[in-house]
Amino acid sequence: MTYAPHRRPRRLRTSPAMRRLVRETRVVPAQLVLPLFVHESLTEPKAIESMPGVEQLPLDHLAGAIDSAAAAGLGGVMLFAIPAHRDATGSQGCDTDGILNRAIEQAVAAAQGRLVVMADLCLDEFTDHGHCGVLAADGTVDNDATLEVYGRMAVAQADAGAQVLGLSGMMDGQVAAVRAALDEAGHLETSILAYAAKYASAAYGPFREAVESELQGDRRTYQMDPANRIEGSLEAALDEAEGADFLMVKPALPYLDVLADVAAEATVPVAAYHVSGEYSQIEAAAQRDWIDRRTAHLEAVTSIVRAGASIVLTYAAIDIAHWLRED
Ligand code: PBG
Repeated sequence: MTYAPHRRPRRLRTSPAMRRLVRETRVVPAQLVLPLFVHESLTEPKAIESMPGVEQLPLDHLAGAIDSAAAAGLGGVMLFAIPAHRDATGSQGCDTDGILNRAIEQAVAAAQGRLVVMADLCLDEFTDHGHCGVLAADGTVDNDATLEVYGRMAVAQADAGAQVLGLSGMMDGQVAAVRAALDEAGHLETSILAYAAKYASAAYGPFREAVESELQGDRRTYQMDPANRIEGSLEAALDEAEGADFLMVKPALPYLDVLADVAAEATVPVAAYHVSGEYSQIEAAAQRDWIDRRTAHLEAVTSIVRAGASIVLTYAAIDIAHWLRED
């Protein structure tokens, strides 16, 4: 006699309608954030080879990109910029006329309140050595000297109208320093999204092409060791205590354990960044027909939300938003 199970979980998988009814995790476009790259020296959009479907944009194409993001119902955009000139202290980041600050201004004007405009607050796009901070005489990244520059950069970004500042540099005390600088300048309503647990990851490779990074070496003295889980909770707790309005874990899929920990402990919204290398792995395999692009991106973003993120940064945000509508 064959054995007949008493409990049959398959009953709730019998039809698309039943699966939809019992689904535990639902992703909506409003929780997706699209990263955008604005390039000071371009006159036409330029494809980023290692990130199929993603382009560097000239400033006058930004408004169109914001319109597409808003039309797709996205929650926000995260702006990155590639300046024409770099120097040792990343001075273009603090310059009102710097490309990122001009991009913020245009993005806010184009968005007209339809989505949240976020800006990357870090020096690596602006320094000629490619590090996220300024260097000490011995060539190491000088934590406390960098905090002062971040404070000025934050005020410039808030002056330009940025609603959320994405602190991605992994300097100790950066949230407190930026909050103090913003408050002193009267920017009481500008929010801080802290890249709280940001790991030194191979998955940032394509991003380095996207921002034409000049980095020699690596960021292992400030970004976290991929082996460390408890330290992810420490970084998140410190950033929340320093006044972060959002916490982020980055990359996303290889760090879902850290994300789940941070989401369980945090009392502010938690975001995760499905980074360039995670995106490009899907795109490269899909180009070879080794993986189904739509299914893979939807599975990725659903898993990131299931693990505890209420906000997801992804380069596929517009396509995902369309697929979610179709489903
Ligand atoms: C640093 C920064 C990086 C990314 C976002 N902000 C690169 C790095 O830390 O090396 C990576 C994002 C991605 O890979 O998609 N400002």
